[in-house]
Amino acid sequence: MNLRPALLASLLMLGACARPADPAVAEQIAALRAQVDALQAAQAATAKAEPPKAELGQQMLGLQIRHARLWAAGEGGDWLLAQFQLSELNEALDDVVEQNPDHAALQPQRLADVLPTMMKPAVARLRDAIDHHDKQAFESAYDGLSAACSGCHAAADHGFLVIQRPKTPVLDNLKTTP
Ligand code: HEC
Repeated sequence: MNLRPALLASLLMLGACARPADPAVAEQIAALRAQVDALQAAQAATAKAEPPKAELGQQMLGLQIRHARLWAAGEGGDWLLAQFQLSELNEALDDVVEQNPDHAALQPQRLADVLPTMMKPAVARLRDAIDHHDKQAFESAYDGLSAACSGCHAAADHGFLVIQRPKTPVLDNLKTTP
């Protein structure tokens, strides 16, 4: 904002005559002061404003990648990597709740209520399977996770978005075997 230094300079110049005899000058000073105050208030408000919320569709793309990577890690039997991917997925889910707690897609229900109810049990089952290095339990829990994703899509009138086991890795430059 280039206005501000200019205004301040004018104020200083006008202020130099401590008690302006001319009432018109006094009025001008008062008007400039008011403008500076308004600009400062606007600047403070901008600094305090919250950063823009992440777009839900964008967050879903992130979830899709996490979901696929988790599968590759579990299928490769790399349980440490699977654990990492699951906790990243879990964080991504928490981010969705944090950034879009009242998203229109779930109205009149609150996304902040629906998402944890649908997703957290599936995440817990996966964590258990991974902790036990149990591939069969992993695969079954993974299908449960995918069903939970699709379930929320259905609840949000997006039933055509069906999540399934990936057939090919999204990116294959991350080693998925121990
Ligand atoms: C809280 C409900 C909810 C949950 C849980 C959820 N989604 Fe979504 N998802 C949505 C909604 C709503 C949209 C449509 C977003 C839009 O309109 O941009 C969507 C869109 C998507 C899309 C399409 C994105 C695009 O732009 O092509 C993908 C992929 C996706 N979700 C994957 C997942 C995966 C994977 C999971 C589970 C790990 C999941 N979602 C869990 C509500 C959910």
